[in-house]
Amino acid sequence: MNFWDWGGTCKTLATTNLVHAAAEDSIQEGAGTAVKVGNRNLAFFKVGGLCYAISNECPHMGGPLANGTLSGHIVTCPWHGWTWDVRTGKHARIPSKAVACFPVRAVDGQLYVEVPVEPDSPAAASSSG
Ligand code: FES
Repeated sequence: MNFWDWGGTCKTLATTNLVHAAAEDSIQEGAGTAVKVGNRNLAFFKVGGLCYAISNECPHMGGPLANGTLSGHIVTCPWHGWTWDVRTGKHARIPSKAVACFPVRAVDGQLYVEVPVEPDSPAAASSSG
């Protein structure tokens, strides 16, 4: 079976790379999993069979969000209790605050995330015309 499955509701940017992150079955339902993708530390969550990825560093003071407690789509930071929606990266009560959120695709049992193209990468140079 080969299909694209959007787990998150993060916005897709015009210039992104699709990067392999993990096997889908390595992400447990209802808990966080830390995954290093390139130079990014991401926290993956699976809710209702769909996977979501946000930065693993809480914007408050850098707490490891993959170690937080997940309730529905809301993860609570283990350090000071700030709450984040894993679907959007937005703070659960203060939507103007957000943690970086990355669209996730599942293909043949593997998870990929969209990450912004770095400004000095060959992909960025070719897309700039
Ligand atoms: S580091 Fe996450 S709430 Fe303080």
